[in-house]
Amino acid sequence: MARRNLDSARIIVTGASSGIGLALTKQLAAQGARLLITARREERLRHLAHSISTENHTCVPLTVAGDITNPGIQQDIIQMAGRELGGLDILINNAGMGVLGRFADATAERLRRVVEVNFFAPAELIRRSIPMLREGHQPLIVNIGSVLGHRAVPGKSEYCASKFALHGFSDALRCELTHDGIGVLLISPSTTSSEFFAHVIGASSTDEQTRPNAMSPERVARHTVRAIQRGRQELILSTGGKLLVWLDRLCPPLANRIVARFG
Ligand SMILES: NC(=O)c1ccc[n+]([C@@H]2O[C@H](COP(=O)([O-])OP(=O)(O)OC[C@H]3O[C@@H](n4cnc5c(N)ncnc54)[C@H](OP(=O)(O)O)[C@@H]3O)[C@@H](O)[C@H]2O)c1
Repeated sequence: MARRNLDSARIIVTGASSGIGLALTKQLAAQGARLLITARREERLRHLAHSISTENHTCVPLTVAGDITNPGIQQDIIQMAGRELGGLDILINNAGMGVLGRFADATAERLRRVVEVNFFAPAELIRRSIPMLREGHQPLIVNIGSVLGHRAVPGKSEYCASKFALHGFSDALRCELTHDGIGVLLISPSTTSSEFFAHVIGASSTDEQTRPNAMSPERVARHTVRAIQRGRQELILSTGGKLLVWLDRLCPPLANRIVARFG
């Protein structure tokens, strides 16, 4: 595939109010992309759009504030892209949340919530986007998964399940959408220093810890933008993440022992 030019590309970014989504928005705007950004915290979206408009005069991102699991919000996002951007070239499903704790101690609501946010919402946004993406220029779906969507660890079973679902879904769609000319890119970050850990359901103050090997959201965004431009299909970030995934493929019993001990 020819290198993807992001200048004037029409892009939706979910979860743009902080972390990886915020960094992606800034970097895509710098490339000249025309953006529609979304998350629940409206003030943050407005502030981001304003700061981009003062730095980059060619592109003022559109904003839609609301819960991504709400079908009405999903519809608003897609309709606004059609109406204001005149179509869609790239959908980036980045919004996500974490949960922590043993499955046996958790509630059914917790499982439902994390799967709603991390899997059903992106899947339904993709369903609504496909007709517009079919008409788009070098159309692409980008799903922000996790290394934990390749190799699961204890204490995060529901999060892992939601990211495994997104991984499997991405693989299937990549084949299914080939004939429509729509690409699918799965990005799998490792620990990233963002607000993610402040919002994890089930985390206690004793879970608060320093994360010395965490990547910065800006770095994750840089790799993601490069992967989009180069037409890649999958990217596992961090050497530790790659090692864990390969060890799991080559020798699952050893990976199980290591994860059970240190995971
Ligand atoms: N941080 C990590 O260590 C790590 C590692 C691997 C993968 N990831 C994945 O990377 C993605 C981004 O995470 P991050 O690290 O950048 O975390 P973050 O800073 O907490 O950002 C999460 C974003 O998702 C939005 N969001 C969460 N729930 C939402 C909902 N119900 N409706 C609408 N928007 C919602 C948040 O916005 P509002 O709160 O304003 O709605 C925020 O903009 C997630 O999919 C996460 O699973 C993160």
